[in-house]
Parts: sequence; structure tokens; C-alpha cells
Amino acid sequence: MDRSISEDAPTPRGTLHRMAGATACEQDVFTPELLGSIEGELERHVDGAAYAPNLQAAVRHALLGGGKRLRPVLSVRCAQAVGGAVSDALAAGAAVEMVHAFSLVHDDLPALDNDRMRRGRPTVHVAFGEAMAILAGDALLALAFQSASATPRHADAVVRSIACATAQMINGQVLDTLGGHAAESSPLQRLHSIHTQKTGALIRCASTVGAIAGGANKTQLESITRWGETIGLMFQAVDDLLDVTQSAEHVGKAVGKDQDAGKLTYPAVLGIDATRAEIDRLRGCAVESLAKFGAPADPLRLLTEYLAGRTR
Ligand code: IPE
Ligand code: IPE
Ligand code: MG
Ligand code: MG
Ligand code: MG
Repeated sequence: MDRSISEDAPTPRGTLHRMAGATACEQDVFTPELLGSIEGELERHVDGAAYAPNLQAAVRHALLGGGKRLRPVLSVRCAQAVGGAVSDALAAGAAVEMVHAFSLVHDDLPALDNDRMRRGRPTVHVAFGEAMAILAGDALLALAFQSASATPRHADAVVRSIACATAQMINGQVLDTLGGHAAESSPLQRLHSIHTQKTGALIRCASTVGAIAGGANKTQLESITRWGETIGLMFQAVDDLLDVTQSAEHVGKAVGKDQDAGKLTYPAVLGIDATRAEIDRLRGCAVESLAKFGAPADPLRLLTEYLAGRTR
């Protein structure tokens, strides 16, 4: 497993469409048109911020430097699943992506995971220094709420949901990095608590705010939220698996570090085979929670399969 990185290596990754062998999900869900709209929305918010050129550059590096754009895609596809339009969910989805980018900048800091490569490029603190990385993360968080508040319909509920999920993400990062679990909790309970909060909360939120912004009724919102919760947990189980099965070159970030850092991960607690079985169980539960939806939820079904089987 190649864990070495070159800080001035060219960007080997970008959106899913630039990867060889695009699957049905990549063609039908992560369409170039939607990815273009998402990039445009993100750029517009960053360009509109009155940041000093050095802060602007660091924020652009963190936000516009590749990434799958899963969270805004989730928001838009969930809005459409409940009868809404792409334009209903772009601001909300971009807001969640900004919180996600902030979480990654801080997650990579020397005081947390101490990582030097992200999305195939140097991490923000490597490229711009630690002080700027802390401040660029803060700036992204503020920008996220500006974006969320621009949601055309139900902006108040969207802002509340993103605030709540951000707090859960931070709580999960504390549990993952510093501990703080209930003394009597088992390793599996701790793992579940970390993963549902540090990663699951934002993925669930991306889905929920998409449904809210798209005008979901109560039943639709409950089903989409349950789906989002399940794929959120599954997403981090897959991330844990990739850390022990993939190369750094393939995933665009360091691998093989969770075990060395003593992290509670699915492979560490259950082993690789049981992790795969758990991912498959979660995949099935996620699909079941879409049972009441017809064809408009087909992109969510494709997303479920893609997220269960992704390799980066
Ligand atoms: C990585 O998230 C961090 C985790 C929550 C595991 P993604 O795999 O969605 O990262 P990008 O945005 O595509 O780089
Ligand atoms: C990251 O989890 C979760 C957040 C950033 C909130 P990881 O630490 O496993 O993510 P990677 O592997 O660095 O992307
Ligand atoms: Mg981490
Ligand atoms: Mg990390
Ligand atoms: Mg990881």
C-alpha cells in the first residue's frame, strides 16, 4: 500500500465523470449538468464573500478542489424525489457541502488526523499553514449559513437542520478524536455513536434539507430522513473499509492510518467480512425506506447501490 505522497503532484481526481468506467449512477445521478450547477452555486457564494485574497485562496482550495459533491447531489435528488425542483435545493445542498469542506479542513489538521493529502492534493494546512487552515474552516462555516439562508422555500427549517447536524458532526469528531463516551458503552455502541454523528449527521441532513426545500409532506420527510440516516452510517462503514483495502493513490487521501491511530472503525470492531455484511444489511434497509416512493426516487435507489459499492 503506497502511503507516500508528493505535495506538488498533479490533481489525479475530480468529479465522478472524469473517472473511467462511469456506472449508471454516475451517468444518471451525478450528471455533468447537475455537477456544473453545484460548482456554479459554490463558486458564486465564495466569489461573493469579502475575504482577503489569501483567505479567499485557502477557501477555494478547500471547497473547489474536487470531491464527489455527494451531499449537494443528495439534496437535489431528495428534493426531486418529493416533487421539488433542482433550484429548490441548490443553496441548501451547497451549504451542507461547505460544512463538509470545513469539517475536512479541520479533520486533517495536525491536532486531529494530521493528514497531508486530501482529494489528491496537499491539505489546506500544508498548502497555506495551520493558522490559515483553522480560519478557512471557520470562514466556510459562516459561508454555509449564508448559503442555507438563501434557500427559496422553508429556509428557516433548512438553517435549523444544518445547525443541528453541524453540532452533531463536531460532537462526533470529539468522540472519535478525544473520547467522551458513556463509561458503560460497548465498542459497538461507541462506534455507532461516532459514525452516526461525525459523518452520518451531515449526510442525513443533506437528504433532509433537500426534502424540506423541495416541499416534502410529513410522511415523505420521515422516509427520506430514515434513508439518509441509513446511508450516512453506511457511508462511514465504507470509508473505514476503504482505509484498509484501497491505495492512497486511488482514494486521494492517506490510507492505513485508522488502525495506527487506534480509531474505532467497523473493520477494527467487526473484521472485514462482517463489515461487508453490515454494509449490505444497511444497503437493504436504505432501499426499504424508499418503498413508498415511485420512480422519482429511482436516483436515490441508484445512489444507495453506488454508495454501498464505491471504492473511493
Ligand atoms: C470524506 O467524505 C470524509 C468522510 C465523511 C468519510 P467524502 O468521501 O464525501 O469526501 P469528498 O468530498 O468526496 O472528498
Ligand atoms: C471524517 O472521518 C469525518 C469528518 C470529517 C467529520 P475520517 O477522518 O474517517 O475521514 P477521512 O478518512 O479523513 O476522509
Ligand atoms: Mg477523522
Ligand atoms: Mg480523517
Ligand atoms: Mg476515514
